[in-house]
Amino acid sequence: MAKTKLQYLCGNCGAVHNKWAGQCGDCGEWNSLIESVYEKEAASSASSRFTGYAGKAAVQNMADIELLEEPRTPTGISELDRVLGGGLVQGSVVLMGGNPGIGKSTLLTQTLATLGDKMNALYVTGEESLQQVTLRARRLNLGDDKFQLLAETCVERILKLAKIAKPQVMVIDSIQTIYTELLQSAPGAVAQVRESAAQLVRFAKQTNTALFLVGHVTKEGTLAGPRVLEHMVDTVLYFEGDSGERYRMIRAIKNRFGAVNELGLFAMTESGLKTVSNPSAIFLSRHDEPVAGSMITVTREGNRPLLVEVQALVDESHLGNPRRVTLGLDQNRLSMLLAVLHRHGGIPMHDQDVFINIVGGVRVTETAADAAMLLSILSSFRDKPLPQKLFAFGEIGLAGEIRPVPNGQERLKEAAKHGFTHAVIPKGNMPKAQDLPSDMEIIAVSRVSELLDI
Ligand code: TYD
Ligand code: MG
Repeated sequence: MAKTKLQYLCGNCGAVHNKWAGQCGDCGEWNSLIESVYEKEAASSASSRFTGYAGKAAVQNMADIELLEEPRTPTGISELDRVLGGGLVQGSVVLMGGNPGIGKSTLLTQTLATLGDKMNALYVTGEESLQQVTLRARRLNLGDDKFQLLAETCVERILKLAKIAKPQVMVIDSIQTIYTELLQSAPGAVAQVRESAAQLVRFAKQTNTALFLVGHVTKEGTLAGPRVLEHMVDTVLYFEGDSGERYRMIRAIKNRFGAVNELGLFAMTESGLKTVSNPSAIFLSRHDEPVAGSMITVTREGNRPLLVEVQALVDESHLGNPRRVTLGLDQNRLSMLLAVLHRHGGIPMHDQDVFINIVGGVRVTETAADAAMLLSILSSFRDKPLPQKLFAFGEIGLAGEIRPVPNGQERLKEAAKHGFTHAVIPKGNMPKAQDLPSDMEIIAVSRVSELLDI
C-alpha cells in the first residue's frame, strides 16, 4: 500500500513545497500554492512505480506491438455514437461538460438505460438523491432494472463499492461534487477535482470500465476545475447552446477514438432528449419573403454538411468605437472581414455597428462561412435583400482573394437537396460540368470585388 503525504504545488511555476505558504518561495507569486497528493512508493515495489495508466513500461519495437481491435459498444443513441466516433470504447474515459440544465444527467440516464440491456451499468450521483434520479428515469419510461444506483461523493468509497459491483460502464454525476479523503480542501476545489478524477481514471483503465464524468462549466464557458482534466480523459464532449433552446448540440472537443469537432444534435422533449437524424435544415428561419441581412451557407461540422443562416445587422454607430458583435462566429474574423471589405471593396464600416448572428444557436468554427458573412453584411448595409434560393460559401483571404474550401461538391449537393438553386462559390470549388447538380446556377468568384457586384 502506498503511503500518502501532502505537498504543495505552485500553480504558477510548478515548484513543490512541503509546507503551505502565502507566497511561493521560488517565483514570488502570491496565493498560488495548491494542496496535492504525494505518493511515496516503498523502495522494494519497483515494478509498481513503472505502471502508468497505459500499461507496464518497457522499451519495445513498434513491430512487436499487437493491436487489439478496440471493442466498441454502440450506445443505442445514434447522435451520441457519432460524437464518440462510433460507440463507447471499453476502458475509455469521457468527460461531458455543459451548462446547468442543458441535459447532461438526462442524456446519461438514457444512455445507461440502453447500455444496461447489454452490460452492467452503474450511475453514481453526487448531486441528486436516489429518489430524484429514479423519478427522472421513471418519467422517461426507461425501466427500473436497467442500471444500478449509488449516491456517494467520497471517491474512495465509490471505488470500493465499484470493485464489488463490477460495472462495465459507470457515470459520475458530477466530478465537482466528488472528494478524496487524502485532501482537506472542499469538494469542487481544483486539487480535489484533479485528484478524484485521477483515481477514477486509474480505476477505469485498470478494470477496463467505460467511464463518463460529468463536468460543470464556469461562467467563462470552460470546464470548471483544472484544464488537466481534459488531458487525463480520452474524450471531451461539450454541450453547446443554451438551456432555453429546443435543440441541444454536443461537440467532441477532443477524442482519442474518433474525429473532433463532430456535432451531435438532440431535441429536448417532455420524454427526454431525442436525436435529430436529419439536422441539415432545422436552423433556417424560412422567411416568407426575402429580408435584408440574411444569407445561407453550408458549413461542415465534423463529417456532415449543415445548412445555417448567417444574419447581419449594420446600423449607424453613435459610439467612438463602433460595436462588432458576433454570436456563433469568431469576432476577430468579423473584424478581419470588415478590414478586407474596406481595403479591397472600398466600403468603409468605421462608423457602423455590425452585429452577426447564426440562427438557432449553432457555433460555426470553420472559415467557409466568410463569404456568406460578407454578403449578409453588404445586404444589410445597402438594405437590399438577397434572393431566398441563394447560398454562398468560401474563405476570404487578407489579399481579397476567395479561397476554395474542402468538400465543395458535398456542400453543393446538400444545398440542392433542400431546394437551393443559386450558389456563390470560390472558383477553386467549381465542379466539372458532369458533376454539376441539375437546376443549380453557380457563380464562381475569385476576388472580393466580384462578390460585391452580386
Ligand atoms: P438535466 O439533465 O438535469 O441537466 P444537467 O444535468 O445538465 O444539469 O436537466 C435538463 C433540463 O431539461 C431540465 O431543466 C428539465 C428539462 N427536461 C425536459 O425538458 N424533459 C425531460 O424529459 C427531462 C428529463 C428534462
Ligand atoms: Mg445534472
